[in-house]
Parts: sequence; structure tokens; C-alpha cells
Amino acid sequence: MKNRVTKAIFPVAGLGTRFLPATKSVPKEIMTLVDRPLVQYAIDEARAAGIKEFIFITSRGKGALEDYFDAAPQLEQELEAKGKDELLKILQATNMESGEIAYTRQHKALGLGHAVWCARKLIGDEPFAVMLPDDVIAAKTPCLQQMVEAYAETGGNMVAAMEVPEEKTGAYGILDADRGDSPLVSVRGMIEKPKPAEAPSNLAVIGRYILTPKVLDNLNELGSGAGGEIQLTDAIAQEIDGEGVHGLCFEGQRYDCGSKAGFLQATVAFGLSRPDLKDDLKGFLDGMVADGKIG
Ligand code: G1P
Repeated sequence: MKNRVTKAIFPVAGLGTRFLPATKSVPKEIMTLVDRPLVQYAIDEARAAGIKEFIFITSRGKGALEDYFDAAPQLEQELEAKGKDELLKILQATNMESGEIAYTRQHKALGLGHAVWCARKLIGDEPFAVMLPDDVIAAKTPCLQQMVEAYAETGGNMVAAMEVPEEKTGAYGILDADRGDSPLVSVRGMIEKPKPAEAPSNLAVIGRYILTPKVLDNLNELGSGAGGEIQLTDAIAQEIDGEGVHGLCFEGQRYDCGSKAGFLQATVAFGLSRPDLKDDLKGFLDGMVADGKIG
């Protein structure tokens, strides 16, 4: 089995109901964080970590996502004719080359584990990454790259991990592991969305994974788990006594762009980090905080 991680799966089949009515016609992954679609942040992070093949698990109504990755010749010509070279560069950086991107449909909404399983024939016999674009991570070294580096030492399976408030364990996969001084933790157990009283720790799985093809075999056999869905967490947990599972407590700030509050926080944070927007936005926010009126 090859050891380098060059393929990544992006599960994007969800309906995005939390963002209705916007998601009635716009896939959630295309929603804009400052001036880029959410999914672009995950793509850039994947590329930085050495990913060469991008596999999207889609569903009905995600056509805009496929168009987004396509070349836009008319737009490019127009920018070129007008001498807008900077914009042209930004635009071209989002094009995917033919053959480096693949789409497969998840025909039934049976859960994250099922979505990942849908890519089994495109993965074959090599380790692969899974990236959930809802989790946007701002970090000096991109999160997946931190994981690829750690994975070179550990092998096996690896999940990104972060401490969450105890009352929030029910929103995450939770690790049975001890958070010591090292960012790398050895996983003894994993459970999907436990109530706080049943959670083995407050170390949560965040949407970045490096997995072995064995996890896909496990998904073959798996019935439904928490919430009646086929859970990726359960298939990974089966490898604890097999190829092993590590958690990496990554350096960086994670934004939960699957929630409105998280999306807004990310918008403010990423806006403030942009030299062209920072001063205006900060001035505006200071004023808002001072008098709290919107109109
Ligand atoms: C999924 C996973 C969960 C993980 C979370 C991270 O849950 O099932 O284990 O902790 O992503 O964002 P979801 O947020 O899709 O319900």
C-alpha cells in the first residue's frame, strides 16, 4: 500500500437546511466567506498538504458546485481584455485541471459514513483524507498539513481533535483519550455524539481525517449508528485495535461554518485578517458595539 496521501474526499451532499432559505438554490459549500466560497478554503488547505485528487460526494441540486470548479473562458477573456491581471490570477487559481477532480453521487442521505463509502472505488488501496468543508480552520500551518506531517510518524488512522465545552459533546464525535503535553493523542475509543454524561472526554473530532482503506471495508459491513445514520466515527473506531487511531490536537482556530453563529464569526475573523478590509470593518464593528443599532 502506498503511504503518501494524495486523494481527499469532500462530502458535500448535505441539504444545508440550517441555512434555508439561502440554500434553496445555492449549495451551502458555495456560500461566501468574505469573497470565496466555503469549499475553496478546504481545497486550498488540501493542496497545501499535497492532495492531487479531489473527490466530491454530491447530491441533486449541487450543479453550481461543479460549475464553480470549471474554467470560465468568457470571463477570463473579458478580464484579460480589460487588463485586470490580478483578478484573472485569482479566478484562474480556482480552476481544477481535467482529471484531478471527480464527483460521485450519494443517492440516499444515509450519513457521513455512507457518503465516504460512496468514494470507495475512487480510492482503491491507499490512505486518503476526508475534509468537511463546514469546518474552516485558520492556522499558520494548514491543519491537514500538520496531520500529514504527524501521520508520516504514526501511520494508521488520524483525526483532527480539539477540546470543546463539556455541554457540547452531543454535537461531535468524541475521543476516549488523554490530552497530555504532546499534540498527538492515542485513541482508546470513539463515540458519535454522546450526551455529556456519557462522553469519555471533551476531545472532539473536527472535520479532517487521514484514513486507511480498511475503514472503507468496515463501512461495507456497518449498520446505522447514532441518529440512525451510518457513522464514519464507528468505522474508524473499529481500527483502534487494528491499524490504530491517533488524534492530532492541531494548532489553529476552527470555525463551525455549519452553524449561522460560526459562519458569522468566521466572516468577521477572516474579514479582519484581510489588509484591504480590516480598517473599514474594525471601524464599523467598534461603532456597532458602542450603540448596537442596525438602522
Ligand atoms: C460530523 C462527524 C462528527 C464530527 C463533526 C465535526 O458531524 O460525524 O464526528 O465531530 O462532523 O464537525 P456533523 O457535524 O456532520 O453532524
